[in-house]
Amino acid sequence: MPGKSKCALSLMTAVMLVMVFAVGPYAFANEKNVRLEDESSIPELLKVMTLEEKALLLAGDWDSQKLKGAAGSTTGDLYEKYGIPATSLPDGPAGVRIDPLPGGTAPDGTPLTRYATQFPNASARASTWNLDLLNKVGRSIGKELRYFGGDLWLAPAMNIHRHPLNGRNFEYYSEDPLLSGKASAAEVKGLQSQRVGATIKHFAANNQENSRRNLPTNVSQRALREIYLRGFEIAVKEAKPWAIMTAYNQINGVSPPQNPELITTIARKEWGFDGIVMTDWGGQGNASYWEPQPGNNAYSSMVKAGTDLSMPSGSPEAIIEGYQKGFLTMEEIDAAVARILKYVLKTPAFEGVQPSTDHNKYAEENEQVAYDTAVEGMVILKNEKVKGKKALPITGGTIGTIGNATNNLVRGGAGSGNVNVDPSKLVHLAQALKEEGAKVIDATEFDYPQVDSILPVGGLGGDPAFKEMKPSKEQLAKDIVDKSDSVIMTIRRGSAEGVDVQAEKGAYYLSDAEQYLIDTASELCRKAKKPFIVVLSTGAPIEMESWKDKTDAILLAWETGTVLGKPIAAVLTGKENPSGKLSTTFPIDIKGKAPNGRPYVPSTTFGENPVTYHEGIYVGYRYYDTFNVPVSYEFGYGKNYSDFSYSKPKLSSKKFNQSIKVSVDVKNTSNVPGKEVVQVYVGAPGKALHKPVKELKAFGKTRELGKNERQTLTFTLDARSLASFDEKRSAWVVEPGKYTVYIGASSKDIKHTLHFTVDKEILVEKVNDVLKPVTDIGEIVPPKKNK
Ligand code: BGC
Repeated sequence: MPGKSKCALSLMTAVMLVMVFAVGPYAFANEKNVRLEDESSIPELLKVMTLEEKALLLAGDWDSQKLKGAAGSTTGDLYEKYGIPATSLPDGPAGVRIDPLPGGTAPDGTPLTRYATQFPNASARASTWNLDLLNKVGRSIGKELRYFGGDLWLAPAMNIHRHPLNGRNFEYYSEDPLLSGKASAAEVKGLQSQRVGATIKHFAANNQENSRRNLPTNVSQRALREIYLRGFEIAVKEAKPWAIMTAYNQINGVSPPQNPELITTIARKEWGFDGIVMTDWGGQGNASYWEPQPGNNAYSSMVKAGTDLSMPSGSPEAIIEGYQKGFLTMEEIDAAVARILKYVLKTPAFEGVQPSTDHNKYAEENEQVAYDTAVEGMVILKNEKVKGKKALPITGGTIGTIGNATNNLVRGGAGSGNVNVDPSKLVHLAQALKEEGAKVIDATEFDYPQVDSILPVGGLGGDPAFKEMKPSKEQLAKDIVDKSDSVIMTIRRGSAEGVDVQAEKGAYYLSDAEQYLIDTASELCRKAKKPFIVVLSTGAPIEMESWKDKTDAILLAWETGTVLGKPIAAVLTGKENPSGKLSTTFPIDIKGKAPNGRPYVPSTTFGENPVTYHEGIYVGYRYYDTFNVPVSYEFGYGKNYSDFSYSKPKLSSKKFNQSIKVSVDVKNTSNVPGKEVVQVYVGAPGKALHKPVKELKAFGKTRELGKNERQTLTFTLDARSLASFDEKRSAWVVEPGKYTVYIGASSKDIKHTLHFTVDKEILVEKVNDVLKPVTDIGEIVPPKKNK
């Protein structure tokens, strides 16, 4: 450089160095100015990005500056240089979990707030069996996500309810993979119609919270394919979610994000998944698919397996080490980088959508959707007559409300599944009943002694211990029962990520205090011939067999979210007709055995570490029906204020050929307009492969039918829906023989039975022989007569 002194040069170098440190190593435009513009820019970017930059992109970020309260983001450090913006990833299954105080103040000086809508929990939503409604729920959440500045929602959560005590069951839809898969697909489609993304999680077999990280889970290939992966498969194929989140637990000796068989062979190749795969938070896992060798570490092993993003932070150094030691190839790194870039291109962040810190402009319309969902998902478990009239709905008179939960309803579970809602909107039951015009005597207004009742929940932000009122029998009679025409007792159970439900009084079982209130109120109401009604404000089953006979009616309200007590009051008073049916079985008990010696719940190893799924495919009703084990309330069960008759059951053919159609007419035979959920189960021959007595293969819900109105529902069963997974051949196979179609109002209340035959075996799909167990599973098989 002529004319410039050595001293001037070193000064320039110093200034440049200061600039580099001041703005970060990635702040300059790259030499060729290659930037993320569209898919065609990706190959060029892969050429100019350094290994360090690529590794950085594969490591997620805690940063939630763009959307305060989001669980994490993708890196924004490459924005200046390559135009790759940070994208934000908020939880969780009941709505958009963000910080309600984004910072800043309104013109009047009050802090800005932005509250998202909390929807009923996933089990409640699945209990609607209404896919159009769930699509609307997805759309509503998608609108809020985009408005607040989110890019990718960390939900739906769709693990199977393997056991009633799993602490996160409230976040999951069902014990059945078809219902889970369809519910998830409907919500994903709705959400993604708003040009934001969904993440289905936790992939897969994540069914207990005890020892949740790295839990060795041993499960057969058949149970994986038919039960634990099936819902994910449906969601991927039908809705093309932008992302999958892997599970914390190991599956057959390998951590899910480090397992190429799960991620690449099954999700990407067999199912055609083309989105990104991320880990659960800190869930890189500790069990690699590959032998120990130089460069094989959790992060490099993940990338090699096909997992793109390590959340909420990763280790670029470990990925670089994996490459430098020859374990990881540049092609593998580039494939992951390319997938992340393709994802980024679809996001609102890339579009330049400006996040809003203002109030939720969708609050009103979304609360209506949440309300409709709560109503359609509520399940009337019981409704007996008292003095010749059904206990529900309560159409007049004075209502006595007892139990502290009356004014402490559960809006949702805790942990990543929580949503920060506007506290001023929360209306509990006594108030909500009053708003429906009911005259209420609320026992919480009396100064009764308070005793310990519900155990603390623990986990991530779970509930503290909860007390219950303990009026004397005389007080309860004088203050409440004598002055009321019906009595409602509310029972609550909180739930939280990180802990399972305890098999104790005050958790899965009633507390002594609740038992006392039920016994006393029931006795007084029976004597006075007044209906005694129980409302369950809970995200998951509790034991009911020992006390349900003491009630006249039971309403399972689930966790109702932002709209909290309003839909419950509307249902209790008959303003709304609920139409929910159970998405999960309420067993007799989680301990003990049925008279035939079979355990009351099949998953007897629940909670163990390591855990082995001895029950195989016999999860939920598949077990109860096949092994003749009685339950308290069966899968698919629910009453409502209408009555329906089923007629004209029809099959399109007596022989199965590619597909077959099932149809039935449903008629409302009551005066109350209502909707009916119809379920189609199929029983297969079960000769070569043992089979459950019946399995859900299709379902539908009528529109609202008025008096005497009827609707024909038609369902199509294809070969894949009939197929079982044959481990020996690694194939989905339809056995020849006689099939039974059960058209039911529940899994037990079968209205019509039809038959068709399959002449020859159909090999529907040959898949890869992967995810083999490493220990003997010792699966149960059905009693002989079902063989
Ligand atoms: C949960 C995930 C959640 C993530 C981010 C984890 O603890 O298992 O479901 O999305 O945290 O909050």
